[in-house]
Amino acid sequence: MRLSPACPVFDVAGAAAGGGLLRVSEQGARRFGDIFRLRFEDGSETLLLAAAEHVGQWHGQSDAFEKDFDHLPTSAALTRLLLGPSLLTARQGEEWSRMRKQMTTLMRLASPWFTRCLASATQTLLEEVESRSDDPRGIPLMPLAIDWAVRSVCGPILGPDVPHSAAVDLVESLQSCFLVMTGLSSTQAQDYRALPSFVEAKAKIDRVLEATMASARNGGDTIAAACLSTLPSGLDEHEQKDAVGSVVIGLIAASLHINALALVWTLASLARYPTLAKRIADESAGVGLSAADQVTKTPLAFAAVRETQRLYPALPFIERRLARDMVFSGYSAPAGTMVLFANWLIHRDPRYWTEPKSYDAARFLPRASQVPNSYFPFGVGPRTCSGMNLVFQQLTFASRALLTRFDLALADGTRPGDLMPIMQVNLEPRGDIWVQVRPRRHHTSPIRPINEGTAHA
Ligand code: HEM
Repeated sequence: MRLSPACPVFDVAGAAAGGGLLRVSEQGARRFGDIFRLRFEDGSETLLLAAAEHVGQWHGQSDAFEKDFDHLPTSAALTRLLLGPSLLTARQGEEWSRMRKQMTTLMRLASPWFTRCLASATQTLLEEVESRSDDPRGIPLMPLAIDWAVRSVCGPILGPDVPHSAAVDLVESLQSCFLVMTGLSSTQAQDYRALPSFVEAKAKIDRVLEATMASARNGGDTIAAACLSTLPSGLDEHEQKDAVGSVVIGLIAASLHINALALVWTLASLARYPTLAKRIADESAGVGLSAADQVTKTPLAFAAVRETQRLYPALPFIERRLARDMVFSGYSAPAGTMVLFANWLIHRDPRYWTEPKSYDAARFLPRASQVPNSYFPFGVGPRTCSGMNLVFQQLTFASRALLTRFDLALADGTRPGDLMPIMQVNLEPRGDIWVQVRPRRHHTSPIRPINEGTAHA
């Protein structure tokens, strides 16, 4: 089978410069509709799919859509180079399946240790916001969100024996190592093991992994422990450390920035809609930290988090390779064709969403109906995000905690263009987002510690 020649081609090189894949896909969809071939400068082609019906095909026949491990996104490829395969970059097989099962269960149950990390991360966020609440310039959201993400993501992954300062150190050295490695020529990349930044990052990773393994061997409810429990018996301590290390560091590298961005987009959206923010504050009074509570007792906060993920999905395109011949909207596509599912377009398509560009949390309230397969910020099929439940709990709780205590508004330092999404490795705001915070009138007392057992947002 050959890719149907009748399927229209959108020449990326000829598209208006400066917009990246977001604009290219929008231009292509305006010209050709919800299926077309993207032809890149090197002559390669990817089939862009932008109808809920295509996502339904992915849902129904997920074995026909393989992850492409030969062309991983830069961050995942570098993690694999640095550490070996992690859960994200492991091919589907028995080991992947065991590990995924353990991890997904752990994240769904949101263990007491995860809850403690979230409570402490959010407590620090509130204290930082409070300490800067009278700054007339406001507060930039990204540094706050990064700190919150390191605390709320690294804790559950690494465990209680790794102090926050070591996690920060690890994240910084991973970042600098990635920066150096992305700038290497392909010949230099072959000798990456001799690079000072690689050697330094590897030494820090090793130190953190020693402490991580200590927690994991104590059987704590950490992601590292879940991972350790799935390893085949007979591995020595070094082999166990290598195997667990590649998974946990790979997870940190892939999910930390995404989580921070998700908090930035959520708070930036809520800062624009004070009435919604006030309603969330009201519904949150006296509600605890548990994931179950957020669905039943604070549905609006949860809905706002989901609406934010509709408009600002961290991964606006998800790539797959066809494992067998398929037909999409009448066009044939042979096995081996690369396809790009465009949640960026589907999440904003007026066929599926009323006034799709408006931010309207009510779309996600429990009784609201949705067109099937029109919402997939966490992917589709067997490789959907294992962290989804954890992420929803984290974002909903942090937003509730902040809105209960503070009024948020965009500060003058945020220019209108800064909120425009741009695609880097993930979907990011184009500029720095600054918010002005004011304690809500009934919350003038100092912030009390969040107690994770009976925590009140
Ligand atoms: C807002 C935050 C996040 C978003 C939007 C997100 C989104 C996604 C998406 C779209 C995928 C599927 C990619 C594909 O199909 O190719 C994915 C995979 C994954 N995510 Fe997330 N993610 C987030 C945060 C996290 C966090 C915090 C963790 C863990 C601590 C995590 C763990 C994973 C894992 C392990 C996979 C791979 C699953 C597999 O291949 O079996 N994610 N994520």
